[in-house]
Amino acid sequence: MERRQFLKLGAVASGMFAVGGVIASGRRAGAQSGAIPSVDRLVLTNVVDNIYDIFAKGGKLDTITVQRAAFARAGDTLLAEHGLAYHLESLRGSERREILLDFALTELNVTHNYRALKIDPGRADALILSHGHVDHYGALAPLVDKGAIKSGLTLYAGGEDTFCRRVVTTPAGQTEMGQLDAPGLEARGLKVVLAKQPTVVGGHAVTTGQIDRLTDFEKPPAAGRLVVGPMDSACSAPHFGTTQVVAKPGELVFDNFQGEHATVYHVKDRGLVVITSCGHAGVINSVRQAQKATGVQKVHAIVGGFHLAPASDEIVDKTVQAFKAIDPDYVIPEHCTGLNTIMAVHREMPKKLVMPSTGTRVIFGA
Ligand SMILES: [Fe+2]
Ligand SMILES: [Fe+2]
Repeated sequence: MERRQFLKLGAVASGMFAVGGVIASGRRAGAQSGAIPSVDRLVLTNVVDNIYDIFAKGGKLDTITVQRAAFARAGDTLLAEHGLAYHLESLRGSERREILLDFALTELNVTHNYRALKIDPGRADALILSHGHVDHYGALAPLVDKGAIKSGLTLYAGGEDTFCRRVVTTPAGQTEMGQLDAPGLEARGLKVVLAKQPTVVGGHAVTTGQIDRLTDFEKPPAAGRLVVGPMDSACSAPHFGTTQVVAKPGELVFDNFQGEHATVYHVKDRGLVVITSCGHAGVINSVRQAQKATGVQKVHAIVGGFHLAPASDEIVDKTVQAFKAIDPDYVIPEHCTGLNTIMAVHREMPKKLVMPSTGTRVIFGA
């Protein structure tokens, strides 16, 4: 199947709310008034992250429990890398769902960590990919090839650009960030859905759909570029965002991460757990989008890569002030967040900070 045709078939229609990839009746406002699921409990495991700290502090906090994986034996120790992979297990009554969100950079590391953490990716009910950077999708196709992830599952992506070639340009040169092959995934038996609008996944989770850019201080990374694909393909310039860009195939255009989406759970009696993965669209924009998508204002936790490592002190400060205005119960910075922001959160809201480490399990809810 041609890439363009494939992507068209998988798209969730604009302006509609979708449940499990099937378009449900009603507009988004209708979904906000009752279609959003809540869960009794969410166990979020950070399977692969940038750091692994066996001394990271765990234990019971006010309304969450943080479990650390401090393996002491060689062979059991976890492997960290510049990448991100989550396992999300939720309960509503006796109904259990397991979702894999992002798939790290290397199959070796994520496979090792699944085993060490006693997670069976073969039990997953659905897959979500936050955006099209290789440090988030690197192990996806290899895991399906090895039979570790069941074929036949639905993979929720946020837009056509998830499957376009990306690079990072700096004065030192150009770094490839990969191109995920959508028809190749479908050939492996996965069904790819472009969840451009808020979409319920597995009956328990919600992807936010594409993220409105509301703040004036959150900008996509200055060095991110998309490589324009063949004319009339899904990676031709008009698909790269709301602004029409005139560019020829092979040229680089600024990457605004149009198709990035966040994942959110509504945990009963707690509020939203918002997971930003890489946060190129801005962590505050992502939280606002999650609130809009669910109709729930209370934010229990903000989790993920906030991509502020390269940010100026001013932007970090504005982000942390916005965190304080949102007033989540917990902030769990990971992956590309950066020490600058972790230190600022620690300074401004120390009791809400949970330090990152590969293998961390956070239990939300009852
Ligand atoms: Fe990224
Ligand atoms: Fe990333």
